[in-house]
Amino acid sequence: MSDLDLPIRPRRNRRSEAIRGLVRETRLSPQQLIYPLFLHEDKGDTPLESLPGQTRWGLDGLVREVERAHKLGINAVVLFPKVPEAKKNPTGDESWNEKGLVPRAISAIKENTPGVAVITDVALDPYNSDGHDGIVREGVIVNDETVEVLCKQAVCQARAGADIVAPSDMMDGRVGAIRAALDDEGFTDVAILAYTAKYASAYYGPFRGALDSAPKAGDKKTYQMDPANAREALREAALDEDEGADMLMVKPAGPYLDVIAALRDFSPLPIAAYQVSGEYLMIKAAAKSGWLNEQAVVLESLTGIARAGADMILTYFAAQAAEWL
Ligand code: PBG
Repeated sequence: MSDLDLPIRPRRNRRSEAIRGLVRETRLSPQQLIYPLFLHEDKGDTPLESLPGQTRWGLDGLVREVERAHKLGINAVVLFPKVPEAKKNPTGDESWNEKGLVPRAISAIKENTPGVAVITDVALDPYNSDGHDGIVREGVIVNDETVEVLCKQAVCQARAGADIVAPSDMMDGRVGAIRAALDDEGFTDVAILAYTAKYASAYYGPFRGALDSAPKAGDKKTYQMDPANAREALREAALDEDEGADMLMVKPAGPYLDVIAALRDFSPLPIAAYQVSGEYLMIKAAAKSGWLNEQAVVLESLTGIARAGADMILTYFAAQAAEWL
């Protein structure tokens, strides 16, 4: 005999793990995770102080790590190079050197694990002596001249075997220009994952530490979006769609779940979200203190991002999460 006359009791659907498993709305799988990897010219591998548990890999280490992740079910990686100061210049010419670090890494990975989709970052910051994603002239990040170089970079990456190029620079018109440049060179099958709503975020700190890629002067607020804006993300999404993007991205992820949900509603394109270095570090640091259960928090954070509408998630936890799943 119950005290309350309740014909409807939502708790019935939570009674056991068997029932919870039937009614679960969001399911995580290693297939939807993209593993960001750092690399450098050195032979050895360097553990990253700013990103505990992550490594800046030499070429051999990188190839082995991709293989290890692939065995855990990860099918996509994204590459971030650390370029020696001596190879940087104001126009970032090393970004389209066909014998450069990234092209060599792409070929090595494709040779060893052809089933892994290789995604590349298109932006000048690792190559630019000013540390900006674009070319700087008298303190201004110039748009159109930067886009020309980004096109060369994307074509160079495609030629080396990249499956997907991901412009993270936030210049206007770069998706359309890169699409045209790829098509001109016959790379009609190479997809574009556009960083559609990339915010000028303080959460990128540990990443810039890992690559020594922080801007030498100023900040990125004239090209990356203001964290206060959501409608503006729809405007960027409309442009990226029109210009031929195959997938749209929101970055960072956790603090921008509303933007992920808005893009999910707005566009039929697949949506990616990037759980960035600062989000990773916050969980790692809190877990180290002993006050958070790392596994539970990581899976909850990824579930939240997927629930908001992300089809795929870039996360430094990719390999670890794949092991847990
Ligand atoms: C730069 C780039 C950044 C990240 C990815 N690509 C840093 C920036 O815009 O300054 C950040 C990723 C992270 O913090 O994990 N093109």
